[in-house]
Amino acid sequence: MAKPNLRGRWALITGASSGLGADFARNLAARGMHLVLTARREEQLNALADDLRRTRGVQVDVIPLDLAREHAPDTLHEKVTAAGRTIDMLINNAGLGIYGDFLDIAWERERAMLQLDIVTLAHMTKLFARDMAARRRGYILQVASIGAFQPSPTYATYSAAKSFVLYFGEALHHELKDKGVVVTVASPGVTKTEFFDVAGQEPTLYQRAFMMDSPTVVNIAIAAMLKGKSSVVPGYRNSALAFSTRFVPRQLAARVADQLMKY
Ligand SMILES: NC(=O)c1ccc[n+]([C@@H]2O[C@H](COP(=O)([O-])OP(=O)(O)OC[C@H]3O[C@@H](n4cnc5c(N)ncnc54)[C@H](OP(=O)(O)O)[C@@H]3O)[C@@H](O)[C@H]2O)c1
Repeated sequence: MAKPNLRGRWALITGASSGLGADFARNLAARGMHLVLTARREEQLNALADDLRRTRGVQVDVIPLDLAREHAPDTLHEKVTAAGRTIDMLINNAGLGIYGDFLDIAWERERAMLQLDIVTLAHMTKLFARDMAARRRGYILQVASIGAFQPSPTYATYSAAKSFVLYFGEALHHELKDKGVVVTVASPGVTKTEFFDVAGQEPTLYQRAFMMDSPTVVNIAIAAMLKGKSSVVPGYRNSALAFSTRFVPRQLAARVADQLMKY
């Protein structure tokens, strides 16, 4: 696949106020892309936008929004369209995990997570992929997780939500490739961001040992997308772990995942 010229084109990044999302913004701005940034924390988004305008000379729109609300993708799509921005790249990154025993987690918290991690991601994809397919041009990156590859006790709902993202994204890769739209799923392993604070987990020994830094993960994910890949697991050790789940019964994989979340 020929190297695309991204300079001067627009990317929309969800969950850009911290972690991987902020690093997607830094990476794409360094490639000369204009950006639309969204998340709930307006102050963080504005600080990042100011920095990227100043240091990279790109245009940056900030649209603060709670993406766990049912009609948030429609609102976002309307605002972006009204501003006359043509989105050539969608980074569906906003997401969160909740750590703990399923029976103990409050339903409203879990429902909002499922809305954000599954429903919003699919809705965003539908809205922006239709525009891209009409122009026969575009990239969509779906941020899943290494947790997508096996059942993960104590992250049961989160890891199942990410399995949705993995399978949904890989199916769409095939559906949209003849329409000029590249869909790529990135499934990061443990990455140093605010994820664990939000999830309510102190990283375990395994998680500390496997932790990657966020700019590296972002760079691998973007490179895979620009090469037109359907899926990528950043990091050799993470790739090997994800691959190994093909050779063991799922209940054994679930038991191993349970242990890795504890120690
Ligand atoms: N870090 C890891 O180990 C890891 C591993 C695998 C996959 N992932 C995935 O990577 C993605 C990014 O997470 P991260 O690690 O960078 O964690 P993070 O630092 O906590 O970032 C999460 C981002 O999502 C946004 N977000 C959360 N709830 C939102 C809502 N209701 N509406 C709009 N935006 C919302 C947050 O912004 P606001 O709080 O400002 O709204 C923030 O910008 C997630 O999909 C996560 O599941 C992370």
